[in-house]
Amino acid sequence: MPGLEHWLSVARSADPDDLREHILTGYKNGKPFTPYVPTLALPSPIDHLVDFGCGVGRSFPYLKTIARHVAGFDLPPMIERCRTLAGESIDLLTDDWNEVRGRRWDLIVAVLVLQHIEPVICRSYLVDFASMAPCIYVLTRTQSDFGTNVLDLVAETGLFEAEECVRVDHDSRTHQLRILGRRRFDEARHDTEVGHYEVLLRSKVPAATA
Ligand SMILES: C[S@@+](CC[C@H](N)C(=O)[O-])C[C@H]1O[C@@H](n2cnc3c(N)ncnc32)[C@H](O)[C@@H]1O
Repeated sequence: MPGLEHWLSVARSADPDDLREHILTGYKNGKPFTPYVPTLALPSPIDHLVDFGCGVGRSFPYLKTIARHVAGFDLPPMIERCRTLAGESIDLLTDDWNEVRGRRWDLIVAVLVLQHIEPVICRSYLVDFASMAPCIYVLTRTQSDFGTNVLDLVAETGLFEAEECVRVDHDSRTHQLRILGRRRFDEARHDTEVGHYEVLLRSKVPAATA
């Protein structure tokens, strides 16, 4: 069963290694639980960044190198697990979306998250993102767990300019992202092959750039 109930149950019940395997498929077969470094140029400097759907903090070591202040948001039981399992501490770990959406951020990162969220809920998060930050870095599988297209959902909000998308997969030698190709956003949206893309979204909402 995909979606919210699945992730709540995983966060509540899985032992630490099973939890890491749910977060990063292949962990138990030797993939290190280490951050992916984006292949896209991110905005700089970054003062405040939020890791949306941070899981148990896999990306924190990298994010702390690019931002002065790092926050993490996830579902309540995942944040509880993150408090004990994350190898690095950050400035704020929270499950309170109202608190997060009420602040302004220089960058939101959403790594391997959007494809797991029910489309209606995902759309609502995307609408919030547009007024929270000028830039959103997304690493996502194009097809969601619900058979919909995550990039279509982004486009349908009409709230973002999307930069060139980079098609990536996991490089089993370096355990980093391997670039497979670059596509315009509309081409990536209509890519019939299921795969993962990185994209930087720029909010069109003026308040986010103020
Ligand atoms: C595959 S994990 C990725 C975690 C982390 N970004 C990483 O790359 O290690 C997906 C994450 O999305 C979170 N998630 C799922 N549904 C969510 C929702 N509705 N709101 C916020 N986070 C959600 C899960 O709890 C989980 O931590």
